[in-house]
Amino acid sequence: LIGFMGTGKSVVGIDLQHRFGIEFVDTDAEIEASQALTIPEIFKQLGEPYFRKLESQFCLNLTQYYNTVISTGGGLILHDQNATRLAKAGTIFLLKASVDSIYNRIKKGLHKRPLLSDKDVKQSIETILKERLPIYEKHANHVIDTDNKSIQDVSQEIWSLYCE
Ligand code: S3P
Repeated sequence: LIGFMGTGKSVVGIDLQHRFGIEFVDTDAEIEASQALTIPEIFKQLGEPYFRKLESQFCLNLTQYYNTVISTGGGLILHDQNATRLAKAGTIFLLKASVDSIYNRIKKGLHKRPLLSDKDVKQSIETILKERLPIYEKHANHVIDTDNKSIQDVSQEIWSLYCE
């Protein structure tokens, strides 16, 4: 699963795991566990470039995952080599949402999003999303609009497309 922060990649991944009996891996959680630090701590103490290296390292070992849904951090697919590796490993689903939906979903946990610590969070979302959307779309095998849909709706849609 790829897409911007707040599009539901992690919650949808967990729902797919629970309802369809597949494994679930979250790249942010893997990286946090490997460093014994939270994402904001990694950004602060080790820097964003180091975090991006850890994301790329994660992508080196994708062949170990079988029958697994992988929820990726919103910036992971932006690195071409990561995108190539993900495309080889499986089917890429892009979760999309409007700026307002993204904002509403993440506004309570802004301290967990080091890229959106600006004063004007909505403006930052809009700017970064505009830059990234064409890249996300280029790499997606399927695009799922998540606005006004429940987590279960989204995971059902993914599962149906996957099983086609
Ligand atoms: C990032 C998204 C975050 C996390 C980090 C950077 C990004 O993950 O990897 O804060 O560059 O979009 P989520 O998309 O799971 O929030």
